[in-house]
Amino acid sequence: MTAPAAVPDHRPQLPGRDPADRPGVGVVGAGAIARTAHLPAYAAWGVPVVAVASRTPAHAHDLAGRFAIPTVHDDVASLLADPRVDVVDLATGPAGRLDLIEAAVAAGKHVLAQKPLLVDPAELPRLERVLAVAAGRGVRVAVNQNGRWAPAWRLATLLVRDGAIGDVVGVTHLHDKPLPPLAGTPFDDVPHMLLTDYLVHWLDITRCWLEGTRVTTVAASDARVPGQPDDARNPWGATVHVGCDTGASASLRVVGDARTRTGGCPFWVHGTQGTLRGSVLLGSDALELERGTTRTRYALDGQWFTDGFAGTMGELLSAVTDGREPEHSAAHVSATVRLGLAARDSAEAGGAPVHPDGLVLTRPGEPAGRTPVPSEAATA
Ligand SMILES: NC(=O)c1ccc[n+]([C@@H]2O[C@H](COP(=O)([O-])OP(=O)(O)OC[C@H]3O[C@@H](n4cnc5c(N)ncnc54)[C@H](O)[C@@H]3O)[C@@H](O)[C@H]2O)c1
Repeated sequence: MTAPAAVPDHRPQLPGRDPADRPGVGVVGAGAIARTAHLPAYAAWGVPVVAVASRTPAHAHDLAGRFAIPTVHDDVASLLADPRVDVVDLATGPAGRLDLIEAAVAAGKHVLAQKPLLVDPAELPRLERVLAVAAGRGVRVAVNQNGRWAPAWRLATLLVRDGAIGDVVGVTHLHDKPLPPLAGTPFDDVPHMLLTDYLVHWLDITRCWLEGTRVTTVAASDARVPGQPDDARNPWGATVHVGCDTGASASLRVVGDARTRTGGCPFWVHGTQGTLRGSVLLGSDALELERGTTRTRYALDGQWFTDGFAGTMGELLSAVTDGREPEHSAAHVSATVRLGLAARDSAEAGGAPVHPDGLVLTRPGEPAGRTPVPSEAATA
């Protein structure tokens, strides 16, 4: 194996050298993900967090104490009125997400919204209206698709964009790891939860690697699996197949709650001129490029948890500083939302293929496809 001449920098990128010169961040929501991922990543990478507010004030005070956040606001409205807050970091759950995005945009604040951007297709037209207001005000709305900055996935994205494997022919993911706790959590109340919520990072990175194509077919199914406890309401097994107009395709598979401590999430991106193979999570992180007779194994820097969270915030702060759209803009991620909704519609129809209308996987900065519609249930 040989080292490549120049390895694209897959680490989080933050604007400027001095954190004090970066846009100020106000965090909304002080729950598990804010405490275990957002704030540790921001502390490590120099993201200036100036304020926090949460529906549970005790959580906000606890977070402020742990991470030296100077101001705790009593409510979200006060945080949105704080002139030191340039960017609002929404670390809340999906319920009420669009209300918070709309309020932040109305206050002239840039937004990083946790995933999934939406789970209710009825909210898609309203999202479009909010994004139009944001665009008119020069306000950037991005989605916390931190998997895009998982080191192996990020480097694969940069290599695909550089043409390292030619045109993408197929993307394959296997979820070879346990599921997180689901029974008894709000997660378990979301219909087809794996397809519309949990798998959003896998669908999103797949969408990035298939950029430049139009999705013609989404077929998905989910099922209860052997050993799944009765009180776990949602199916624990799921498969998704995505077909594109170029003939390129993608396939994702969660077999269930895999009983392994040594697995991970292996992936393959096969192209017309080479192959990328790698893995993320459970310490399995790796990436290899095979092209012709050369195999290159890359040294990876960092971990999805928590560096990926600095990646998403860093890209938004850089975009705000540079006056451009971020790579993970809500407009870009809305294609991911539509993929998840199409998968849900297919699973609801017993696995029958769904043919989304105008689901073009644009590159960052390209105009988004047509306005999403509430249901893609045009099953074959
Ligand atoms: N890799 C990832 O990106 C990743 C991983 C885990 C969770 N998440 C997502 O993060 C989100 C939050 O998950 P969590 O586990 O931290 O949930 P949580 O319930 O532990 O925390 C949510 C926090 O938001 C606050 N909150 C909710 N609505 C609010 C509102 N309207 N105004 C002010 N505060 C409000 C709650 O009081 C709580 O402090 C979910 O959407 C989840 O899917 C993402």
